Amino acid sequence: MLLPADRIRARVEELGREIDRDYPDGVCLIAILKGACFFLADLARAISRPTRLDFIGISSYGKGKTSSGEVKLTKDLDLSIDGADVLIVEDIVDSGVTLSYLVHVLEQRHPRSLRIAALLDKPDRRVAPVAVAYVGFQIPDEFVVGYGLDYAENYRNLPDVCVLGD
Ligand code: IMP
Ligand code: MG
Repeated sequence: MLLPADRIRARVEELGREIDRDYPDGVCLIAILKGACFFLADLARAISRPTRLDFIGISSYGKGKTSSGEVKLTKDLDLSIDGADVLIVEDIVDSGVTLSYLVHVLEQRHPRSLRIAALLDKPDRRVAPVAVAYVGFQIPDEFVVGYGLDYAENYRNLPDVCVLGD
């Protein structure tokens, strides 16, 4: 097991306190479906400022472990982000292709600010540069599942983050 649930919980609470300090007027959290749902649910409860939640569907991975390289918007936001302080909530930054695409899409909607919070970061795999303001954990280049992360849609409900095959 790479990250047990209690370590994740403690780190998410720290991130919530940082976000509280950085966004005294509150923040709009946008989670990328589906992997970021568990992180969103815990992070939102660790933030005590006024918070709005929304979801966006983006897909860059097929059913396997490697990216198709092709990014698609599969579900759009419900809320307007015009003038809002927006924090994208993502499970993991791997190549960076998904997030650099999403940042490009959302910037065109004129948020007041736009930053990224990712539970996990695999810096060795980066292809597209992307600035991640809040990182839960940097991890080695291994394929992980649990706490929202899937392999072919399975294992999302595991409470811990595990390396696939462990
Ligand atoms: P990127 O566009 O390569 O940064 O890919 C990001 C997306 O790929 C994430 O939102 C995940 O859905 C998926 N992904 C990347 N690495 C892993 C992993 O180790 N386990 C499960 N999903 C992953
Ligand atoms: Mg995924």
